[in-house]
Amino acid sequence: MNRYMQAVAAVVLGVATFAGSAQAEGDAARGKSIFTRCSSCHAVTAQNKVGPSLLGIFGRTAGTLPGAKYSKGMVASGIVWSDETLGTFLTAPAKSVPGTTMPLGVPNAQDRDDLIAYLKSVTP
Ligand code: HEC
Repeated sequence: MNRYMQAVAAVVLGVATFAGSAQAEGDAARGKSIFTRCSSCHAVTAQNKVGPSLLGIFGRTAGTLPGAKYSKGMVASGIVWSDETLGTFLTAPAKSVPGTTMPLGVPNAQDRDDLIAYLKSVTP
């Protein structure tokens, strides 16, 4: 193996490790307390607040909940919400969905995993 191949292998391994850790199980109890950052705008009941209800968010297509107010960017995004797409959006909302009206992201990966675990735990 030459140096180039070693470098490629190191990068591939690094990416694999990163992807593995991104799928680590989050802590739903901790996620519940992190959700206080979201709950001024989002409910986990059927109610829409400033932001759309997050009840049943997994598998929903972005920007489609009846009665919720969305930006054109969100409606046009075509995102289907999953662990992965939620993780990407929450990392940097405006980067993920240009024109989004959601102002706040969750830069910390563990916080995101915990939040996603919490949202799953309240998904019927
Ligand atoms: C200041 C209010 C506000 C806060 C705080 C907020 N959001 Fe949002 N959120 C919004 C708005 C407004 C939208 C609609 C965005 C758009 O259409 O571009 C949205 C959209 C979303 C969507 C897409 C919903 C759909 O139906 O497609 C998800 C998922 C989401 N927010 C999760 C979160 C999470 C998790 C948090 C906490 C870390 C959070 N939001 C914090 C206002 C907020």
